[in-house]
Amino acid sequence: MKIHQAAKFLLLGLTATACTVALAQVRPDLGKREYDNNCAVCHGSNAKGMGVYNEFLKTSAPDLTTLSKRNGGVFPVARMYEVIDGAGKGHGTRDMPIWGQEYRIKAAEYFGDLPYNEAAFVSGRILALIDHLNKLQAK
Ligand code: HEC
Repeated sequence: MKIHQAAKFLLLGLTATACTVALAQVRPDLGKREYDNNCAVCHGSNAKGMGVYNEFLKTSAPDLTTLSKRNGGVFPVARMYEVIDGAGKGHGTRDMPIWGQEYRIKAAEYFGDLPYNEAAFVSGRILALIDHLNKLQAK
């Protein structure tokens, strides 16, 4: 009976581990994925600038690992949200894409005629990017 119970627990443990691994594979870090797919070309895969696309830019893409350092040790969440979203900036005058706009287009392409929450789609991605950038800050 005892061995039977131990086996049961072991099986339960293994199932839980397998589920966690499976979940981690299905839902990778959204912020990292968005960064790697959209930002690394200019800001570099390590976010220190020098992405492969940099030579085509008028202004080089800045190092994104020193955002806190340059702001008295505090990660400037609200300012970063505005910069990434692009709200309030003129169109086409800067090298940094307007991600709020890009994500609204992506959402429309993804959902098509289905009902969806555009604001949640856009802010979810911007916040995930901010979370990812926050983790990359140099101490
Ligand atoms: C086409 C190149 C390019 C891509 C792609 C790009 N950026 Fe930028 N980014 C820039 C440039 C150039 C600047 C600086 C000048 C400006 O604001 O236009 C900048 C500035 C920034 C800043 C402000 C940094 C500071 O020091 O204040 C942040 C934050 C930022 N980018 C985040 C991102 C994120 C997040 C992504 C991906 C979703 C991204 N960028 C994709 C070119 C790019």
